[in-house]
Amino acid sequence: MPDTYVGAIDQGTTGTRFMVFDHAGQVVANAYEKHEQIYPEPGWVEHDPTEIWENTTTVVTRGLADAGLEASQLEAIGITNQRETTVVWDADTGRPVHNALVWQDRRTTDRVEELQAADKVEWIRGKTGLEADAYFSATKTEWILDNAEPLKLQSSRGGGLRERAEAGELLMGTIDSWLIYNLTGNHITDVTNASRTMLYDIRELEWDDELLAEFDVPESMVPEVRPSSDEEYYGYTDPDGFLGAEVPVAGALGDQQAAMFGQTCFDEGDAKNTYGTGSFYLMNTGTEAVESDHGLLTTIGFQLSDEPVRYALEGSIFVTGAAIEWLEDVDLINNAAQTAELARSVDSTDGVYMVPAFTGLGAPHWDGRARGTIVGMTRGTRKEHIVRATLEAIAYQTRDVAEAMEADSGVETTSLRVDGGAVKNDFLCQLQSDIIQTEIARPEVDETTALGSAYAAGLAVGYWDSVDDLRQNWQVDREFTPEMDAADADAMYDRWGDAVERSRNWATE
Ligand code: G3P
Repeated sequence: MPDTYVGAIDQGTTGTRFMVFDHAGQVVANAYEKHEQIYPEPGWVEHDPTEIWENTTTVVTRGLADAGLEASQLEAIGITNQRETTVVWDADTGRPVHNALVWQDRRTTDRVEELQAADKVEWIRGKTGLEADAYFSATKTEWILDNAEPLKLQSSRGGGLRERAEAGELLMGTIDSWLIYNLTGNHITDVTNASRTMLYDIRELEWDDELLAEFDVPESMVPEVRPSSDEEYYGYTDPDGFLGAEVPVAGALGDQQAAMFGQTCFDEGDAKNTYGTGSFYLMNTGTEAVESDHGLLTTIGFQLSDEPVRYALEGSIFVTGAAIEWLEDVDLINNAAQTAELARSVDSTDGVYMVPAFTGLGAPHWDGRARGTIVGMTRGTRKEHIVRATLEAIAYQTRDVAEAMEADSGVETTSLRVDGGAVKNDFLCQLQSDIIQTEIARPEVDETTALGSAYAAGLAVGYWDSVDDLRQNWQVDREFTPEMDAADADAMYDRWGDAVERSRNWATE
């Protein structure tokens, strides 16, 4: 018998990764492909769902081939994905009717302001745990149905999209749902992704009729909601399809929840922060959906088959890694690794603060009209100061949500598990530990997002027996403890709040 493994498709904002893990949680295959970022207008961000699906088949095929593995050696496939990003497709042909509206897309800010003016914010938060914002799928789905010009090539039929949706001809879903549909033919999502749509009641665990009515989304469009690790499986891959094997697709989690799962944050009070395009700080709150009074989201953390849902508090920071990419775009750096060297070459930012509110501000500020701002520059400001200010902004934004988390949960985080691309940067990890005055633990396997979805799928098929099995796989790579005086950290952080105020309410459209 050849060895068997579990595969994970990690469909993120900038690209798609396929990884294969062994029983010890070690990586045995890894392939990655970027996809196009489409910016039709300022503040609008789209992806082509067909390109995403094609890239998925490419990375799965290439990942297996490069590692010399057969698809039949996969006991299960798990999925993890950029959350909230919304696809609408034809139920008959399976073709998208429009590009996906990405979580960063701000085009529905006016609609959100209408909800605010109509005093619907508390009503939405009560059902969904979410802050009314263009970030989530509800207003994106509504926008596609009401405004989208159907893709010329792909709209073979007549009729506007709204009429077609009402006639039951269209389906919607987040990216997990789009991939599960293409892999298995079934229209399914998991609870964590459903909890990011602003259409799902996170306590009743059902699509909410009143919200579906508010956003004019016919119930026939939304997917069936299943546990994140599902012993009934979402379906099987088609043996006559690109994979050439019948593999159960049995687990799915939004990428931030998957990272929490991969970091084995299974117990109440366990917390992690992932540094990707943005940063997402999640704390497991157990079977209780803790309401936030400090601008955090209440969301579903994970659900195993036949077990109650576990909730999480989440601080969603929209731009962190993307701020480093921006430094590269404007030629202040040549690559991300250079930020550490440049930042270290100066003692401080010399009073410069950078607020990377490129797509508005998420938690805990929630200002869709905030925009990127640099303050405190003098004639002596050099690029090193701006680079350092950008890294500091990542650390300050994390402190914003860490403080909110402590206030809401009453739990003091003594050690924060971190992952994501930016944590390779030791300078940033040390800075983060200094600014939040908390120990930071970086695990050996830093692809915790893919690992989390592999764990979910592997538990469902019995590849791993229990979460205790998984805990043993978590190994620390390095810990960072605060080296800066608390008073110095406080003084630096105090002025950050002033800088944030300068960035607020800037965009007029
Ligand atoms: O909520 C958005 C988040 O899921 C995106 O994550 O890693 O693709 O930037 P990432």
